[in-house]
Amino acid sequence: MANDTLLIKHTGNGKQVEYPLLQSTLGADAVEIRNLYKDMGCFTHDPGFVSTASCSSKITYIDGDNGVLLYRGYPIEQLADQCEFTEVAYLLMHGELPNQQQLLNFNQEINDRAVIHESLRKFFDGFHYDAHPMAMLVGVVGSLSAFYHSEMNIKDPVQRLRAATRLIGKMPTIAAASFRHSVGRPFVYPRIDLSYCENFLNMMFSRSSQNYIDQNHYIDPGYVKALNLLFILHADHEQNASTSTVRLAASTGANPYACIAAGIAALWGPAHGGANEAVLNMLAEIGTLENVPKYIAKAKDHNDPFRLMGFGHRVYKNFDPRATIIRKTCYQVLEKTQSNDPLFELALAVEEQALKDDYFIEKKLYPNVDFYSGIIYKALNIPVEMFTVMFAIARTAGWVAHWLEMMEDSSMPISRPRQLYVGPPRRDFLNIHNR
Ligand code: CMC
Repeated sequence: MANDTLLIKHTGNGKQVEYPLLQSTLGADAVEIRNLYKDMGCFTHDPGFVSTASCSSKITYIDGDNGVLLYRGYPIEQLADQCEFTEVAYLLMHGELPNQQQLLNFNQEINDRAVIHESLRKFFDGFHYDAHPMAMLVGVVGSLSAFYHSEMNIKDPVQRLRAATRLIGKMPTIAAASFRHSVGRPFVYPRIDLSYCENFLNMMFSRSSQNYIDQNHYIDPGYVKALNLLFILHADHEQNASTSTVRLAASTGANPYACIAAGIAALWGPAHGGANEAVLNMLAEIGTLENVPKYIAKAKDHNDPFRLMGFGHRVYKNFDPRATIIRKTCYQVLEKTQSNDPLFELALAVEEQALKDDYFIEKKLYPNVDFYSGIIYKALNIPVEMFTVMFAIARTAGWVAHWLEMMEDSSMPISRPRQLYVGPPRRDFLNIHNR
């Protein structure tokens, strides 16, 4: 409610201060407590930022209780059904959907920026053949800062936009190059005549003797559609761990390419984007339908570190709307590719048994976006180690949108949290002979 406040009272010294509630356009308001330390001499303690709004943002809205996800106000279901990925990237970056000419220009700019410097290409030679593609992605995207540093003025909006589109354009090229290096195939250059998803598939799978997508543009449209959908669903998710990492790094005024590399590193973990790879590994470990109850029991056992990967979410406590869309697409893709993947049957059994189980019901643990995305990627012949890289390509649109948003806000201070110190009190140094 307008003008509502939150009254905080220190029961020790009786001091009380009223703090204003900042109003959201949708969802929870936030109490403005930046003066709390000055007023009361104490910090807030919120490990994992469960109740902390770290910034205000106009980009993405999530209602975790009702399974709602909006990009710039548009429901994810509508965008997933009707848009191409670059259209969504434009929306995230600029705040409005592009008209036909704007989209044409944007696509052309992205295509123009897809090529990478020959010297950057040689960076891949420095990686051992079995380097994980995510490790290569972190390294190579970070090293873009070496190519675009002296000319990068983050105070200039034109240069900022250029850096953002450059990142979206180059990410599939670098991603595909990581894969090709790991399997010892020569690098494939991006093509100006292909769409974003087509270009990525062509760079991934072309052989020297045969273009994956020939001059007649033949490629199964179902493959491109599925990839486009997955990219849209993964494009942004408000202040998730990797986006918060990008924002935190960027708050210091660091080079944007280095900030995005930091985001990629944060995405890699199995609790975040690494979950799609972990889901496939988990299903392979479960192996057979008979083993499903045993693994559900393991996931419920607090003495066992095993968790059902692709289940649960910090924000969604009802259902993840992205998982609902992906589940449907999974059936369509498997039908199209005529893939009778036993892992899909296994995934359905895990989902069915977990959703009936009191433990998962009580803790509100539902399949998240990563539970099914890996199965679709597998049907498209994307190798398992590349799954999180796929996530990173898509999430780059969100990362750069958040970076652009925070750079526009000149009042944004450096992110510098405090802590609750629980270490030893002051003590005097002891000479090594007296310890
Ligand atoms: N399997 C078994 N138990 C679980 C799971 C799971 N997947 N997820 C949460 N729990 C339990 C957890 O043990 C805890 O139990 P208790 O309260 O008895 O200690 C309770 O549920 C709450 O879990 P939490 O870890 O405190 O919840 P969180 O909000 O901090 O973590 C999560 C969210 C996504 C990290 C977690 O659910 C998880 O580790 N899931 C598996 C990994 C995964 O699928 N990650 C992808 C997230 S979606 C993609 C993305 O946006 O990155």
